[in-house]
Parts: sequence; C-alpha cells; structure tokens
Amino acid sequence: MAKFKYRWNRILPLIFILLVFIFVFNAYWSPGPIKVRTIHSDKDRGKGDNGDGEMMDLLRDQKCKIPKLDINGPEVSSFFHDPVPLECQIPGRFEKEWLFLDDQGVIRFSEEHRKAICQMQYFWRIDDESNGYGEIIYVKDGDKFDGGEYASVSCYEGWSKWTTLLWNITPSLKAVERAKKLREEEKKKYNVYILGFDSLSQMSFRRKLPKTVKFLEETLGSVVLNGYNIVGDGTPQALIPILTAKTETELPLTRRRFSEAKYLDEVYPMIWNNYTNNGYVTMFGEDMHLYGTFSYRLKGFRQQPTDHYSRTFFRDVESRGDKNCINSQPIHKIWLKKSEQFMKVYKDLPRFSFMFQGLLSHDDINLVGVEDEDVAAHLKTMNSEGLFDDSIVIVMADHGHRFAKLRETHQGQLEERMPFFSISLPKQLKMTEKGKVMEKNLRENAEKLTSPFDIPASLIDILNLPDDSEEKDSNQMQDASHQRSLSVFRPIPEDRTCAQAGIEAHWCTC
Ligand SMILES: *[C@@H]1O[C@H](CO)[C@@H](O)[C@H](O)[C@H]1NC(C)=O
Repeated sequence: MAKFKYRWNRILPLIFILLVFIFVFNAYWSPGPIKVRTIHSDKDRGKGDNGDGEMMDLLRDQKCKIPKLDINGPEVSSFFHDPVPLECQIPGRFEKEWLFLDDQGVIRFSEEHRKAICQMQYFWRIDDESNGYGEIIYVKDGDKFDGGEYASVSCYEGWSKWTTLLWNITPSLKAVERAKKLREEEKKKYNVYILGFDSLSQMSFRRKLPKTVKFLEETLGSVVLNGYNIVGDGTPQALIPILTAKTETELPLTRRRFSEAKYLDEVYPMIWNNYTNNGYVTMFGEDMHLYGTFSYRLKGFRQQPTDHYSRTFFRDVESRGDKNCINSQPIHKIWLKKSEQFMKVYKDLPRFSFMFQGLLSHDDINLVGVEDEDVAAHLKTMNSEGLFDDSIVIVMADHGHRFAKLRETHQGQLEERMPFFSISLPKQLKMTEKGKVMEKNLRENAEKLTSPFDIPASLIDILNLPDDSEEKDSNQMQDASHQRSLSVFRPIPEDRTCAQAGIEAHWCTC
C-alpha cells in the first residue's frame, strides 16, 4: 500500500505538467490569422521574383479569414499620441490674410488692409514640372478672379510686404462644351467623390480621425470594407490598381529613369477617362508636387489628365517653402475647400473628383489628427447642402503606416496591409430598388476579401447605372475564379482567396 501511494505521488505531478503543457500548446495554436511573413522589404522591390511561389500554392485554396484588430493593441498603442496643432492653427500666430478669394471666386481685401497695393500674376501648367506666368496686374477689392485657376499675389503697405498664392476652380470651357453634348437624360448621372489619405490603416484612421469616421458611419451611412487588403507597397501600387485595374508591371513602362518610358496618359487606361468620355467634369487633386504619386518615380502626364489638376498649384506652394500652411491657412483646409468648390461650380453637370492628400500623414503617424475636425466639418457641410444626395462618396487610404518600428510588430504588419476604405452610395440611388440591392451587397461584402482591383469594376458599375436599370444582375454572384476585379456592389463569393483577388502571399493578411 505504501508503495502504491508513493507511485501516485510521483505520477500526479507529471500528469499535471502534461495537462499544463497541452493547455499552453493549444492556446498558442488556436486557429487565428497566419502570421504575415515579411520576406522582402521595400529595398527588394522591383526584383521581380520574390520567392513567394511556394507560399502562394499554400494559400491558393485557403478561404480568407479576415483578421480582427484591436484599436488599442498593446503592441502598437505606445506609438500614438495627440499631435501638436499646426502653427497656423494657433490663434494669433499669423496675421489674418490681407487678400483672399470668396466662395464666388471674387478677390476680397481684409478690412485692415483695404489700402494695400496688390499685384497678381496668373500661372498655369506647361507640363508636370513647370508652370507659365502671365503679366503682372494690379488688383483691387471686388475684382473677379477669372483669368485662370492659379495666381501668385504680392501686396505692399507702408514698409510691409505680404505674399500668397490663390487657387480658384474657374469653370473649364472645354468641360462645359463636352457636357453640353450630353442628352438631357444623360446629365442625370451619379457623381463620384473620393477623398484619399496617404498611409492610414483602418485602425489608425479610426484613431486619428474619429469625428470623421463617426460622421461617415453614423450620418452618411458609409460602409467600411473590413476585408480590404493592399496588393503592393506604396502609393502608386495602391492607386494604379484603383484607377486602372492593373499593376504597374502589367502596364507599359512609365518609369522616369528609362528613356523608352511613356507618359502615363499615353498608356494607362485611367478610369477617369471613362468618365470624361461620358461627359463628366473631372478633377485629380494631390497636395504635393515633388512627391506626386505619378511623377516622383514615374514619368507623370504629358497632357493634363483631368479638367482640374492641383499639381500646378502645389509646384508653386513648394517653391515658396510653405509646409502645412500658407500664411494663416492650413493647406488641408484649402484642399478641402477647393474640393467643395469643384462640386458646387459644376452643380448641373456630372462630376468625378479624386482628391488625394499626403502632406500631413505621409511622414508622421500622429499629425493627421490635426485635421479631424476640419474633414468632419467639410463632409457635414457637403452633406447638408445636398451635394452628396446624388454622389457616391469614397473616403479611403492607400495603405497603412510604413514606419519601421511599427512594422516590426505583428499588428503593425497587418495594419500596413489593411488601409481604411469606406463607401457610401448616393442617397437618391439608395431609394431605388436597384440601389437597395447594391447597398445590401456592399454591406455583405464589407466582411469579405476585397482589394484595390475591385474599385474600378465598382466605379464602372456606377458609371453604367443609368443604362442598366435591371436589378437582377446586381443579384448575380460574381465568378472570383475567372475575374480578379469584382464589383463591391454585386455579390462576392465568401471563399474568395488572396490568389483570386490578385493579392500576393506577402501582402495577404488572411
Ligand atoms: C474605359 O475606357 C477605355 C478607353 O479609355 C475602354 O477601352 C474601356 O473598355 C472602358 N471600360 C469600360 C468598362 O467601359
């Protein structure tokens, strides 16, 4: 008996240890998202083969399981803090503008500087790198600003000098002529309104722009695509698929350094061309010149690609040495204002606007927080003035943060691959039978795997809406095994794989 007791004394702890081991093992091996493998960094980009073949086969038949991230994830939370306001957001730091443009595009002098002597010079695009300048003219309060879209201004009063740059959405005769050719019923088309932000994961967008997200989700009824997964590293790798449904390597060479390279407008099937060909007025508005998405590493456009194109303005903003402010005005507010003015100036014509900003978010993971209030207010105004009633509104980012320290964490890697992407259908469309079906599909697709390649297919659906009013094809399940680009307004298969969606293993988060 004593012997037996003695044995149990030895065996029980062993069994206990074994149980603990099994428990711990299970906890670590519970089926969660597979770890993202960082097999190549930005430096290896362009090498072509990245050794992903094997992993690709593994993933080929794998149904996508979208990772759920914690906005306060302990691995990353220490990176985020409230930003210091911009210099020009601090009251009293800068004097009021001596001269400005009002909403009607009329030049106004401030009360304090009524007597200032102001000279103005219009400027315009010659090509993506250079501007042309008109003669110097004197302006006074109440003068119309209609000799172009951009101008530089110098004012003098006593010994003081004050300078600024002006930007107006002056209606383009060419665009108006083009739209006149539309038949009356064709003029009733839905507008496309896209606000894009550089380097904001869904999580960071929610962290830094909470008021904006609240407005989108609670007032506008936007759907945030939780399974939206990038297909490459960097802004062009996001925007090229969004605008052409192809990758840079699938398209003809457009890289600056190569003599045989073509300009983008000569060889890229940009989606805004489809809109232009359908009578839309178009705008592409970035807030950076040197780091322009299509002109830093790529060759840019020979002809101006859209009716309105802010690159011309920002060339001179950058040569003034302004950073995030022009005098007392935050640049993001000017950018939002012009975006609004574009939608107003062409109120009776179909519009396509793609605004993309990088100034605040490209080099800093916290600074973009300074514009939350302004972006939310902008969207609120647009909505309350009815400008979104007949517009699809997309608020999006290209990819998440790419800062080394953040990317060293697992959550950081997942966040980089999962940018913010939200869509709201036009109010007027949502009231139709077809619109109801599209809205239902969009909401269901929010939890499925989607990618930048899906955006052009979706935008073409919007463009073709007036022609196909049948709702039955909006109910048709799309074939993910034969088509890389699927519309988010039609059913997307639940078992769509990264390979089918054109997402290489390296970027696949599920
Ligand atoms: C878009 O326009 C291009 C020509 O710029 C044309 O080749 C293409 O078929 C159009 N796409 C759709 C889906 O209409």
